[in-house]
Amino acid sequence: MLKLSTRRFCRPRAFSTAIPSLHENPLGLPPRSGPGPQMPRRGGPIQKRPIPHVSKVLAVASGKGGVGKSTVAVNLAFALAMRKPPSLGRRLRVGILDLDIFGPSIPTLMGLQHSDEPALTTGGAMLPIMNHGLPTMSMGYLLPKSAENKPREDAAVVWRGLMVQKAVQQLLFDVNWRESAHGPGLDILVIDMPPGTGDVPLTLGQLVVVNGAVIISTPQDVALADVRRGISMFRKIAVPITGTILNQAYFTCPSCTTPHQLFGSPDAFRSIASTLGVPVLGELPLVKGVSTGGDGGVPYALTASSQQLEADGSGGAVWRSVMDEIAVQVWESIA
Ligand SMILES: Nc1ncnc2c1ncn2[C@@H]1O[C@H](COP(=O)(O)OP(=O)(O)OP(=O)(O)O)[C@@H](O)[C@H]1O
Ligand SMILES: [Mg+2]
Repeated sequence: MLKLSTRRFCRPRAFSTAIPSLHENPLGLPPRSGPGPQMPRRGGPIQKRPIPHVSKVLAVASGKGGVGKSTVAVNLAFALAMRKPPSLGRRLRVGILDLDIFGPSIPTLMGLQHSDEPALTTGGAMLPIMNHGLPTMSMGYLLPKSAENKPREDAAVVWRGLMVQKAVQQLLFDVNWRESAHGPGLDILVIDMPPGTGDVPLTLGQLVVVNGAVIISTPQDVALADVRRGISMFRKIAVPITGTILNQAYFTCPSCTTPHQLFGSPDAFRSIASTLGVPVLGELPLVKGVSTGGDGGVPYALTASSQQLEADGSGGAVWRSVMDEIAVQVWESIA
């Protein structure tokens, strides 16, 4: 387990979710040189900028909550990081940005919920926090902690539109994704989106060139309606849809080989994807280890425990190979 020791560079920040006067700087970062990106005026030209030291940006999203966006985002990031595209001759450099301002779950999924807040470079950018070899940034690292450095369950962000937009802007442009002071940046940044079609995706789409979006759904009707909304929103903000993933498509109990479609048939999902002209990247089964791995901070794509893999049976093996296949398609589509 690789953890970046960042204390050395730490500077106190003015961060507080409770200070209303921080409208222009909700994360309390020190002033940066040069003009920051501006939100486009209503009807004005959209000025998209690249994220510093990031080559490609992939958003993982859904119109609905709880369908597995964060779980897929983290595991897809690792599946990508394990790839070695022949054109590069080395492994992909991947990072994860959690843009779920109100309900960040990347710290827990990465086993980083007890980490210190991010250190700052001398230029005032936040340094990502690493685990399992992958750099991450999340609002969760910036929320107040209890005296024992435990995340405060009740530490809610109570911001309105402008503060959220500004925080998203700072998370997009004020993180230094380089491996070291003069090291290389990322080949791909995977962004875990909040549920729904609110301020965050709009801000992202207006400020940044997003190279692709992966839309997650489950087989239930209500999730399928939301997938339509998600696709339509990304199309409106001119983000190409890389494809959709059907999550929790079925469950194969470890002692048998029959897939059980607990949440219904995948037919409606396949037909919506085909009607909307969106590729289906994969159908992931429900697997106990995926959930326990998330809770335990070790993403399933990294699970090497033969005991766990045996307990999950063929469902676990299928999940891993589908996730690998999704990573191949995603990179081929946006590289
Ligand atoms: N394929 C899967 N097999 C088993 N459990 C899964 C699977 N996908 C997701 N889960 C579980 O479902 C729950 C919700 O997943 P997750 O938090 O990733 O969803 P989300 O869409 O990001 O939610 P939110 O909208 O709140 O951000 C978690 O407990 C996760 O472990
Ligand atoms: Mg989530």
